[in-house]
Amino acid sequence: MHKKIIITGGAGYIGAHTVVALVNEGFTPIIVDDFRNSSLEVIDGISQLIGFSPIYYAVDVCDKKALALIFEEHNIDSLIHFAAYKAVGESVKEPLKYYHNNLIGLINILTILNEKAIRRFVFSSSCTVYGEPEGIKAVKENTPKQLPTSPYGYTKWMAEQIIQDFADSQINCKTICLRYFNPVGAHPSGLIGELPVGAPSNLLPFITQTAVGKQKKLFVFGNDYPTEDGTCVRDYIHVVDLAQAHVKALKALENNESSTCEFINVGTGKGTSVLQMITSFEEISGKKLPWEFAKRRAGDVAEIYANVDFAKKRLNWAATYTFRDAIIDAWRWEQENLLNKK
Ligand code: NAD
Ligand code: WQD
Repeated sequence: MHKKIIITGGAGYIGAHTVVALVNEGFTPIIVDDFRNSSLEVIDGISQLIGFSPIYYAVDVCDKKALALIFEEHNIDSLIHFAAYKAVGESVKEPLKYYHNNLIGLINILTILNEKAIRRFVFSSSCTVYGEPEGIKAVKENTPKQLPTSPYGYTKWMAEQIIQDFADSQINCKTICLRYFNPVGAHPSGLIGELPVGAPSNLLPFITQTAVGKQKKLFVFGNDYPTEDGTCVRDYIHVVDLAQAHVKALKALENNESSTCEFINVGTGKGTSVLQMITSFEEISGKKLPWEFAKRRAGDVAEIYANVDFAKKRLNWAATYTFRDAIIDAWRWEQENLLNKK
């Protein structure tokens, strides 16, 4: 029988791609998402890709009673937890909203996993936990964490600690925190992708929206960083590769025998600067982008990318798409997606 996996936030950007990847590998995903940052059309896109309508519950993960009922209806094998708020700037303005949703949701889930003796759990963490490590650009999982620079960053930092403490207190609870670098791109089918609400704060969606005229001009934040071309360097990971890493993480947990909490970088291992992103986008799209330099954005790290040796060794996973592939798919999504045109 197919294993049933709960995917909280499964109608979101990364969750939707992971639902598709799980079905492709023979799992039965059950989406739990109250659509606060997504829409029912995402379920349509997923359905077209997998050939049937996935099971979904429009439930808030902070509502423990409603959440627990889902576990009564299904024999759940494991859970991947995506549901959270993710906008760094908004978290500075509304910290309680972030601490409430990102931490209460997590605590509810771990409590239910404990009650139901569900032993496998994968969590969406972030490279934000590394801050700006001195002198190190390719960060390893054992690179010391730095104190975060935003309430959003603190929620991931604290969530990792909560999961570690929870796993340590159990006899047989296997957990993995995947530390994503910069997720970008869309499904190559053009059926699912990112749907930013309002003006995007992330680079690639801002680029594609500028190219179609939804944004007037792109501002490149800073040209005097100690990097090759003076602009910030990041590790852009294609969302389809990232989704696949979750499937590999679930499989890797099947072999663990005792309680564990593992932290694994998910990136390409390569850095790309803001100017390289712009130049590549212009080449790929054939469009000239209106852009200019602006002052540095507060809290930005000059250069960071992943050391991905552990992901290869532990998950037998490595990125297969390049940042240029991600640009091609993000551009297709921007142009073709009907929702985006609204
Ligand atoms: P997203 O906003 O597209 O997806 C999150 C989904 O969770 C949305 O569909 C939203 O409706 C749902 N959700 C939020 N709170 C909920 C709640 N209380 N109950 C039920 N559903 C709820 O975001 P994403 O980019 O897919 O990110 C997924 C996860 O990955 C988040 O935890 C995020 O912090 C983490 N992450 C994202 C990035 C990134 O750049 N996208 C990088 C690192 C980590
Ligand atoms: C990338 C580069 C900007 C927009 C964020 C979160 C991080 C993680 C991933 C969740 C930077 C520059 C951007 C623009 C620009 N998310 N830029 N003009 O900041 O690396 O990471 O998303 O966990 O926690 O902080 O990604 O896409 O915002 O920026 O010049 O209009 O592009 O300064 O150098 P970031 P980003």
